[in-house]
Amino acid sequence: MLKKLDLNTIALAKEYNQKMVFSYLETNPRFEIGDWWKEEELPFDLSQFGEFKTIAVEVGFGFGEFLFSNALIEKETLFVGIEKYGEGLRKLIDRIKKTNINNIIPLCGDAYVIMQVFFADKSTDKIYVNFPDPWPKKRHQKRRILTEEFFKLAERKLKDNGILYFATDDPVLMEFSQSEIKKVPELKNMCHPDKYLLNSPYRVRTRYENKWIKEHKQLFYFVYGKIDASHKI
Ligand SMILES: C[S@@+](CC[C@H](N)C(=O)[O-])C[C@H]1O[C@@H](n2cnc3c(N)ncnc32)[C@H](O)[C@@H]1O
Repeated sequence: MLKKLDLNTIALAKEYNQKMVFSYLETNPRFEIGDWWKEEELPFDLSQFGEFKTIAVEVGFGFGEFLFSNALIEKETLFVGIEKYGEGLRKLIDRIKKTNINNIIPLCGDAYVIMQVFFADKSTDKIYVNFPDPWPKKRHQKRRILTEEFFKLAERKLKDNGILYFATDDPVLMEFSQSEIKKVPELKNMCHPDKYLLNSPYRVRTRYENKWIKEHKQLFYFVYGKIDASHKI
């Protein structure tokens, strides 16, 4: 079962991100503001804005390096970043302001809330979760993001043929996330017959990825698709 959002949580998410989305829309003439914000029906559907061919979401973008570099390479993709803490968000916004980049929307808040409030079902092409906190202690396990509940939410928000990428350096999280995603059979392992990739399928590296590579850690990359099982990456 997905966590139910209460009206207060929704209102807070709206209020907190309203300025961000509005200032983004105002500075980007490719978007039309319209009256979507007054629409009380949830969710808002960010994929309806602009003329982007694809929409990608990064959950837990940290300082936003992955999001920013990808947005520079893939101009026809709208990158929406979700980050729980403000420091990385502020750094990313400063960086965006110094350029004329127009395909990143950074949002602040808990991914479970933001994904439900800002994305319609079947609206995203790609979702990335890169090196999330592993929360190794048993009593902290419930803080892990790569859970059945998250995978169900991601599956719902992905378009048919959409892809979910996630990566970790942590062997315990690697095992845990695998057993959780098996509970969502609609998401098919695109690395099959392997369980994961040992080399990155990405074009750019994340901050944590660079750190772990310098420390010679083994990294695990997962690619799951809302696709026919015969597809391979
Ligand atoms: C270990 S860092 C990895 C940052 C980045 N992805 C990288 O690879 O460099 C994990 C990030 O996920 C964020 N985070 C954790 N739980 C989250 C949640 N529920 N919603 C949004 N962000 C979350 C944390 O604030 C942190 O910035």
